[in-house]
Amino acid sequence: MTTILDFEINTQSCTRCGDCVSDCPARIIFMHENGFPYIPVEKEANCYRCQHCLAVCPEGSISIHGIKPSESLSLEQGFPDPAKLELLMKGRRSVRRFQEEPLEPGLLRRLLEVAWHAPTGVNSRQVLFTVLDSREKVAEFREAVMKGLADTVAKNALPKGREFYGGFLKLWQEKKVDILFRNAPHLLVASAPATVSTPVPDCLIALSYFELFAQANGVGTLWNGLAKWTIDDLLPETRECLGIPADHVVGYVMTFGKPAVHYCRTVQHGPALINHALTK
Ligand SMILES: Cc1cc2nc3c(=O)[nH]c(=O)nc-3n(C[C@H](O)[C@H](O)[C@H](O)COP(=O)(O)O)c2cc1C
Repeated sequence: MTTILDFEINTQSCTRCGDCVSDCPARIIFMHENGFPYIPVEKEANCYRCQHCLAVCPEGSISIHGIKPSESLSLEQGFPDPAKLELLMKGRRSVRRFQEEPLEPGLLRRLLEVAWHAPTGVNSRQVLFTVLDSREKVAEFREAVMKGLADTVAKNALPKGREFYGGFLKLWQEKKVDILFRNAPHLLVASAPATVSTPVPDCLIALSYFELFAQANGVGTLWNGLAKWTIDDLLPETRECLGIPADHVVGYVMTFGKPAVHYCRTVQHGPALINHALTK
């Protein structure tokens, strides 16, 4: 009987197949002399909390961390058709024209919850999604950013090589053309504590999950390097204004919303760059 992990075996249904033992990446599950799997108390601290034991058990006999296998999604129907997934991956586009209306809160929540399933190094699961959930909030944030940019330009303090931001400011001030946020109704920042093993990859993978699931749901997304640099480098006070914890690394920024553009076909990229290493 374990204490911290709440590792429980349904001894009625467990067939003692040992799949949980073989699949545990931390190698902390063993077969007890009574024939059932168990985790020695002294090994509990090594658990990744990955739930592979729960996921792999053919009989659904394992629960861990209080999580019941009956509440997991079944994978017995297989994954989506690869041809459809290929179409999504090739057909997804950077969207820079958005409809006025925001996403329904339920859809926004679902996109984030699914993106939250992205893998993280050592299963740290520390990616924080900071989201602006309405057009009004994006407008308020844009005002703060444009004011900061205007102050920087007035002081002639734009860093070398970033002078073009002055042009973005002018376009906004004179024509209300928004190159930074593309007039999107939503903004998403993925950040993670600098102390986890892989903060930036964790954020980028989570945003890639977000993007693909968003586009599958008819939501347009844009990886937004201009906004990222503005928030993270040029105007760090806007990071605070968004409530991003000071000990976090900003992985990336994405703008998104219902698209006001429809793409009819995929673009075409040439063959992938592949280095077939160690081939004679
Ligand atoms: C890391 C990254 C940063 C990007 N930053 C911006 C940006 O700041 N503004 C923008 O309009 N597009 C940005 N893009 C979009 C690229 O320009 C776009 O992916 C590229 O032109 C190809 O178009 P596609 O995504 O529709 O295939 C960025 C893309 C990536 C992957």
